Amino acid sequence: MAILEMKNIVKNFGGLSAVNGVSLSVEKGETVAIIGPSGSGKSTLLRCINCLERIDGGEITLRGERFAWEENGRTVYLPEKELKRISAETGMVFQHFNLFPHMTCLENITYAPVKVKGVPKAQAEKTGMELLEKVGLADKRDQYPGRLSGGQKQRVAIARGLAMNPEIMLFDEPTSALDPEITGEVLQVMKELSQADTTMVVVTHEMGFAKEVSDKVVFMNSGKIEEQGDPLEIFNAPKSTRLKEFLSSVVSA
Ligand SMILES: Nc1ncnc2c1ncn2[C@@H]1O[C@H](COP(=O)(O)OP(=O)(O)OP(=O)(O)O)[C@@H](O)[C@H]1O
Ligand SMILES: [Mg+2]
Repeated sequence: MAILEMKNIVKNFGGLSAVNGVSLSVEKGETVAIIGPSGSGKSTLLRCINCLERIDGGEITLRGERFAWEENGRTVYLPEKELKRISAETGMVFQHFNLFPHMTCLENITYAPVKVKGVPKAQAEKTGMELLEKVGLADKRDQYPGRLSGGQKQRVAIARGLAMNPEIMLFDEPTSALDPEITGEVLQVMKELSQADTTMVVVTHEMGFAKEVSDKVVFMNSGKIEEQGDPLEIFNAPKSTRLKEFLSSVVSA
């Protein structure tokens, strides 16, 4: 069953098509890695999934519910209230953590479930602690984000995303702001999520992760999907010239 289905997505910024006719479906339990050069539309595509950006063309269906589509040459969205409910089904992890600085780790995690979903505080805290344990940070529950390392912040951000029990987790270069030696601890948490059949879309520069952990790799270039497929095919037998060039540039970097 497809959790996410995107058909012919177009997103323009002024005269620029950041995303220009992308169709992508993500099955339940699948981990999809999106790779591609800077400016190819990877973040924009991800942001369209959770309504941080509004599409200019195409349609998006999440868990069988179409929330944006074209009608008489215009793009229409479900009403705001419905969109809030639907985008709560996506958990997003950004490059720069975006934790609330004035809240402890546990408060960061429990905030949305209590506010958005009306989960009782005690229950949200219990789940929050389980998630902190999952990412190896139970001892940091009362710590403020400013006192954490980058890798720890990112693991809290992942726990926060999971706290809403989303249908799909979206990651936008979650390790690219981290020092190389702590990148591994975040990738390890993501690998465990993937192995536990969490549905995930991961924009990444970590080719090792894309190759070894993902079920499908999507290569974006100039707002389009240039090539997609099985990780082994993508990395060992790339077809398009652009993908070949991209892979040789990242491998030699
Ligand atoms: N809010 C915005 N306003 C105007 N242009 C934008 C905006 N967001 C993105 N763009 C443009 O859209 C294109 C795609 O950007 P996007 O951030 O999706 O690329 P990306 O593949 O995520 O790149 P990177 O690997 O550097 O993060 C770029 O040309 C970018 O400058
Ligand atoms: Mg980006």
